[in-house]
Amino acid sequence: MRSVGAAALPSLAALSAAGKPIVMLTAYDYPSGRVAEEAGVDVVLVGDSAAMTVLGYDTTRAISVDELLVLTRAVRRAVTTIPLVGDLPFGSYEESDERAVSTARRFVDEAGCDAVKLEGAGPMASRVRAIVSAGIPVIGHVGLLPQSVLSADGYRARGRDTEQALAIIAEAEDLVRAGCAALVVEAVPSEIGELISARVDVPVIGIGAGSATSGQVLVYHDLLGLGEGHVPRFVRRYADGRATLVDAVRRWAADVRSGAFPSKDEGYGMPADALAAVRKSLAKTVNRDS
Ligand code: KIV
Repeated sequence: MRSVGAAALPSLAALSAAGKPIVMLTAYDYPSGRVAEEAGVDVVLVGDSAAMTVLGYDTTRAISVDELLVLTRAVRRAVTTIPLVGDLPFGSYEESDERAVSTARRFVDEAGCDAVKLEGAGPMASRVRAIVSAGIPVIGHVGLLPQSVLSADGYRARGRDTEQALAIIAEAEDLVRAGCAALVVEAVPSEIGELISARVDVPVIGIGAGSATSGQVLVYHDLLGLGEGHVPRFVRRYADGRATLVDAVRRWAADVRSGAFPSKDEGYGMPADALAAVRKSLAKTVNRDS
């Protein structure tokens, strides 16, 4: 299936054409953006997962455009050599093409994004068309759509029966026809990830969609073990970041309480004669006051 958006993110299209897996990671602030770029990922997404990973909301639906723009600008300051994708938050694009274009423009104009991502198909294909016509590349998102999940048990895989699988494949094709430059496919059977990848000519970036997609995306906090609570089965943790951080802060607190921190070397000194002059001056002040 040919997409008008196929060349809109050229570095990703080139990787995909060369059969090289695309590595996409989320980031939410300057340090995580720096880590992602220094580690050599191919593209960074400032996901609306920020709602849960860094802002402490219990759903991605809670984050506002203004909140996500602050985070996206911080990541853009860090990520200077690879594409940056902004995620259109829940409620910021669904109601009309005009609304979708104006929100997408904010992510480009105010945060320097190279592309935006939005969730869903059906009427969203029209939003994609409108944003692409405004000159902004769009990444679609099918399968599990976190913005449509209303309770914790809604984070289940999608497309595990024939009807739902066919619907997701049709949605993916529809979004590509509408002009998406790439697709994120979340939490579907590996076979469905493979079928979608074979049927569209844009990069398909999977998260819990098997190994046959053009690339993979993970949430920064999941990969580094920085979060709390349920971890989806498609996450592979490469660090136990939260335990490492808690341990470090605990040891520092213990050192403060025992007097072991700070040491002499962890403070500043001054020349003895300068200090003597300070003491002398203070002594005069004390004498005057008494
Ligand atoms: O918001 C996000 O982090 C995402 C990824 C899971 C793809 O949409």
